Amino acid sequence: MTRGPGAYGGPVCNDAAVTVVAFDLRSPDRSPPLSVSDPRPRLSWRLRAGERNVTQSAYRIQIAGEPGFGDITFDTDRVASSQSHAVAWPAAPLSSRQRCWWRVMVETGSGWSEWSPPSQLEAPLWQPADWTAEVVLVGDEDAGPSPLLRRLFHIPSGPIRARLHVTGLGLYRIELNGREVTDELLAPGWTSYDHRLACRTLDVTDFMTPGENILGAELADGWYRGHLTPERMRNVYGPRLGLLAQLELTLEDGQEVTIGTDGAWEWTTGPRRSADLYDGEAYDCCLEVPGWSAPRPGADPEQGEGEHWAPVEVGAMEDRRAVLSRLVPAGPPVRVVEELPVVARWTTPQSIMLDFGHNLVGWPRLLVDGPAGAMVTVRHAEVLAPDGSLHTAALRSAKATDTYVLDGAGPRWVEPRFTFHGFRYSEVASAHPDVSITDAVGVVVSSDLERTGGFACSDELVNRLQANIVRSQRGNFVSVPTDCPQRDERLGWTGDIQVFAPTGAFNFDADSFLSGWLGDLASDQRASGGVPPVIPSCAGRGFKMACAAWADAAVMVPWALYEAYGNLRVLERQYSSMKAWVGYAAGRAGDDLLWTDDFQFGDWLDPDAPAGEPWKAKAPGDYVATAYLAESARIVSEAAALLDESEDAASYSDLALSVRRAMWAAWPDLPRASQTAAALALRFDLVPDAERPTVAAALADRVTEAGNRLATGFVGTPLLCPALVEAGRTDLAYEVLMARDCPSWLYPVLQGATSIWERWDAIRPDGSIHGGELGIREEGGMLSFNHYAYGAVGAWLYRTVAGLAPDAEDPGYRHVIVAPRPGGGLGWAAAGLHSPYGDTSVRWHREGSVFTLELGLPANTWATVNLPTADPDSVRLDGEPPAHQAGLRAWQGTRVDLGSGSYRLSCSL
Ligand code: BGC
Repeated sequence: MTRGPGAYGGPVCNDAAVTVVAFDLRSPDRSPPLSVSDPRPRLSWRLRAGERNVTQSAYRIQIAGEPGFGDITFDTDRVASSQSHAVAWPAAPLSSRQRCWWRVMVETGSGWSEWSPPSQLEAPLWQPADWTAEVVLVGDEDAGPSPLLRRLFHIPSGPIRARLHVTGLGLYRIELNGREVTDELLAPGWTSYDHRLACRTLDVTDFMTPGENILGAELADGWYRGHLTPERMRNVYGPRLGLLAQLELTLEDGQEVTIGTDGAWEWTTGPRRSADLYDGEAYDCCLEVPGWSAPRPGADPEQGEGEHWAPVEVGAMEDRRAVLSRLVPAGPPVRVVEELPVVARWTTPQSIMLDFGHNLVGWPRLLVDGPAGAMVTVRHAEVLAPDGSLHTAALRSAKATDTYVLDGAGPRWVEPRFTFHGFRYSEVASAHPDVSITDAVGVVVSSDLERTGGFACSDELVNRLQANIVRSQRGNFVSVPTDCPQRDERLGWTGDIQVFAPTGAFNFDADSFLSGWLGDLASDQRASGGVPPVIPSCAGRGFKMACAAWADAAVMVPWALYEAYGNLRVLERQYSSMKAWVGYAAGRAGDDLLWTDDFQFGDWLDPDAPAGEPWKAKAPGDYVATAYLAESARIVSEAAALLDESEDAASYSDLALSVRRAMWAAWPDLPRASQTAAALALRFDLVPDAERPTVAAALADRVTEAGNRLATGFVGTPLLCPALVEAGRTDLAYEVLMARDCPSWLYPVLQGATSIWERWDAIRPDGSIHGGELGIREEGGMLSFNHYAYGAVGAWLYRTVAGLAPDAEDPGYRHVIVAPRPGGGLGWAAAGLHSPYGDTSVRWHREGSVFTLELGLPANTWATVNLPTADPDSVRLDGEPPAHQAGLRAWQGTRVDLGSGSYRLSCSL
């Protein structure tokens, strides 16, 4: 017998046969490591089941004030629903500081599960009124040494609970009693500081002691007031560094104590003489302030010997209000995600050269020794020039140089803290002959996102391409999605993430990272609906134009998140931003619905464009812009339907259709004229059905003419292979994928690339390095070896080569589309994904003409498998014709619908 959950939440009796458990409870709205980012956090869980075809029919959630569930505050009772991901918060919104525990039990065909283990949620401070702390400011408006701030205080007994809420104007790091309180780097990250400032809530209970305590912070310029943009602007967001921190303690004796930043704080300068994201750091070990944040028993607690601590300045009341009104919960923290050994080391007459084996983003950590006062200079570059020296021209004005003045106290590890470099090689030099470098580590930093996806196949070069894509994603997901991590740019270029988001959403759980960035996009969007080309915006400070395909990130990125994570909330939040962008673009198009005569980046970096004019692609910018208008209008219409905005759904759908018709009438030849134009036409459905075969044939011709290679820039690159498959030319798609000559994806791999290059020919076949010419800039060039845009082919590797794709109709991989298309001589391919529902995997191999597919689907999901055969009679499921199998959801020809579980299918090719 199986009984439903007792009305009062008591233990529930289950059949011994029940095998389903709910586990891995979490909230997609978590703000790691501690708090949630939404007062109504959505709730998710996964189901583990030992049998096939397990679907949840109902759930029950309980919420309590303590983990034993002795004080249940909310009980949903039975809710008939198959939803196990991003379930709406059922209770009253969480108030500031509120903590609770929740648990879930699920009903499936075999009855109710046990209660899951409990999961904790904690709210940060939601309201400005929650704050008593002031914003404190230090130093003057000029760049200078990093300030150290501190406050000494006394507590009579140890705390049972200590929470620190903190943000900074500029970068900050926090110490409590001599220990750093978190491994987060580059906090508070980069947001659109004019509108949104990320606040972190940390559990610091274990850092406190009864008696004297010191809370300390070190600040640095970072994105807030350090160099930003190729114009090397400074003070983009404000001229002075500041800190807002509030430490809230509940002591053993029940007292509540709050220590906030205020006029009682003091500051001095320390060893970090300068710190800049582009230029690097200067650190003087001789100027360290030992124990500056640690109580020194017996010593004068207020003043260390020779230290000059001055009072901080309390910011103006108006500024405080402005800062408090901008606070948003911080997203995923930047952390050290990997450490790489040195793979080669050699000396030149002036320096030691280190090769970390991969193009990485972070910095080298060095074990150095030498006399007091000796200086060590470390420079960085992604590639070496033919003469073996660092190729620094690509960095343009970014100095990317760290210096250390040694203190002569013996060997010690040194590394920067408030900068990062994009590099593979480091050159370490010192004028002092007695300086030695005895060890080094490549420290890789990134926003610390869960690695969710993996792709592999039988071709090692393609696997290296995939590894390079992942590396470039990591390196360019440092707080915001950037174009590149090394030169004087590192900006949130919208076009780059617009094309890359579907790929990025496979490799990592990018949901909250990109959702947060979309919040910045909406904040920086202009009243006209125009979206600046870099987000966070430096608009009014250089980058002003709103270009198609770039600004379309406003529509495409939310949609990619919806598909990959079933994140309806991102559509709700972004909906007005999405509409505003399409409204802007439609306005630019005007009555004829053709967006013409504005500057467009277009199919940026088309390999056939003049080197110095990357916007002069074969596909005209007007065509690209109008195509994106049609597609974005279509997506807004889909979003409107999901959000029950039926009038919008109809009007945007009409707009999409009208734009398509207008394009076809105006430019009937363009869809056949270039790879990108044809791929856009097929993928964005821009041609009448009757014309699709001719456009498909033209696409194939354009590829053949190019020697079976791609001839696309940023816009066409992610669309080309999917369009060729759609055109019935999977063979050509593989030719393009497997091409080894420039331009191709494998050409850089063969040249030794360990990340995705900005230009197809960043290093030419003769070994010379591209000059990076760019007509609109006089100084330097545009040449990055770490740009994920061309890596946007990754989504096709997962979706079509391996055959694991989401379905916007039932998103988040609740319904998985499994339609592998083998080719390119591959013997096998595989993809695995830790989806919101659990581990989902596809692996196929071919032996002669027999194609075999293994599929793993987590409970509460289902798949439609479309096998690559023309012979439906050859289809087998677990060795039998599907007709003989019980429990199939559906089966027709080569298409089989399967519920959760593990399967083996085969067919003849
Ligand atoms: C960036 C690109 C960006 C482009 C605009 C470049 O400087 O690095 O990735 O999208 O400008 O077209």
